[in-house]
Amino acid sequence: MVRRTMLTAFLLVAGFCCVTMIAQADAGSSGASGFKPTASVDSLMHGMGEQFKKINELLKDKETNKRMKRVHFRAELLAELSNVNRFNTEKDDYRQWATQVRDIAMQLANEAHKKSKADESKLTALVGQIKDVCTACHDQYQE
Ligand code: HEC
Repeated sequence: MVRRTMLTAFLLVAGFCCVTMIAQADAGSSGASGFKPTASVDSLMHGMGEQFKKINELLKDKETNKRMKRVHFRAELLAELSNVNRFNTEKDDYRQWATQVRDIAMQLANEAHKKSKADESKLTALVGQIKDVCTACHDQYQE
């Protein structure tokens, strides 16, 4: 009888631990992890600025060798930098803008990945959308 009580208690504790671990794993994937960017926002922005400038140049210069491959790499890098930027704040609007740049930059990367089948007007439109989000966040947060 005592044994059975102990077994029940053990199972309850084990079950509780499992639930707690699952909850923590979930929190991690939703962004509430302990991740901390190592670079300053200033440096991160210089990196984002360089990628964005190059992407604009590449889209204009149709003679560039392996042009779409280059756009693809830079757009993914821009997306990742913006992904990191989401962790520079707790503020909802800031995080939403950073998330939008990340997601549109990934759309840009995926379109460029189609190489010769990439839709040029779609690429240009996506770049325009990214620019609007850069400006929205800068209007609010850049001093
Ligand atoms: C979610 C907010 C946010 C988004 C989105 C954002 N930025 Fe910024 N950006 C900032 C902040 C904040 C600063 C000011 C940083 C500082 O001076 O410390 C800044 C500054 C800059 C600077 C100036 C860096 C310097 O200090 O000289 C450049 C260049 C820049 N951003 C490029 C971009 C580009 C390009 C995009 C879009 C692809 C973009 N940013 C999107 C928040 C954002």
